[in-house]
Amino acid sequence: MKSEVVYLNGRFVAPDQAQVSVFDRGFLFADSVYEVIPYYRGVGFRLQQHLDRLAYSLRAVRIQADEDWAAILDELVRRNGGGNLSVYLQVSRGSAGYRTHTYDDSMRPTVFACTSPIRDIYSDGAEQIQGYNVIVTADLRWRRCDIKSTGLLPNILVLQQAREAGADEALLVRDGLLSEGTSSNLFVVKQGVIYTPKRSSEILGGTTRELILELASEAGIPYQEVDIRPEELATADEVWISSSTRGVMPVLTIDGEPVADGQKGPLWHRMFDLFTRFQHRLMTGEA
Ligand code: PDD
Repeated sequence: MKSEVVYLNGRFVAPDQAQVSVFDRGFLFADSVYEVIPYYRGVGFRLQQHLDRLAYSLRAVRIQADEDWAAILDELVRRNGGGNLSVYLQVSRGSAGYRTHTYDDSMRPTVFACTSPIRDIYSDGAEQIQGYNVIVTADLRWRRCDIKSTGLLPNILVLQQAREAGADEALLVRDGLLSEGTSSNLFVVKQGVIYTPKRSSEILGGTTRELILELASEAGIPYQEVDIRPEELATADEVWISSSTRGVMPVLTIDGEPVADGQKGPLWHRMFDLFTRFQHRLMTGEA
């Protein structure tokens, strides 16, 4: 299902009324950054964390755009009926009116946002979560994966490779280490400890990753941010991936082999429960 109303450069319009120049640098060069933010019952989930990361991405690529993002997105969600929606926000460097690699500060950024419906996984409950099958493959991306750039061709090609192998996601390996998924962060559980690759320019600083670590810390579940080699997956008790729209998701098979007994693990159930409680607190204004 599509957005009924989208936002483009200061206006809320029907999608077919929203037009961007063919010289927009987002279109020509993927010279743009983005965010994907879940809203449940009309309330933004970790909105501020997403906006902080947007500011980080914009600064990193030197696009100057300073809007009241929360007001724009809240209004867009309202105009699309509230409820459970994922908001996509993209800011490109704009257009010079012709194709040129170089840019200067006179360009006006293009700001685009739209919504699409999502499931409220927390209301649905843990039984409804299917779990993921993943493959492990080479990380072909650039070396600034900490920037949430729309230059997603390597991610798209690898995800397609996963799908053609009957899997849902790919875990990426660079220089002998696991980095993350094509659109998710990675967690490995061994003997009650959660391990996740440490933050660097090799991975996106996921808002859901951050929340997992916060909730683990509050609940006294030990975690470590470390280098993880792909060989270590074979002896994992549990493997999870995380993203805004999927929350924390158990991985049941890797390259066709079950993770432990191939079932959703006990620590995943605990973390899903912590997420559910957190979301409830957020909905009731307690978080
Ligand atoms: N992707 N790593 C990558 C490469 C991602 O693209 C994403 C999110 C994440 C998880 O970040 P967060 O927890 O803040 O959603 C990690 C979004 C959902 C997307 O591209 O649609």
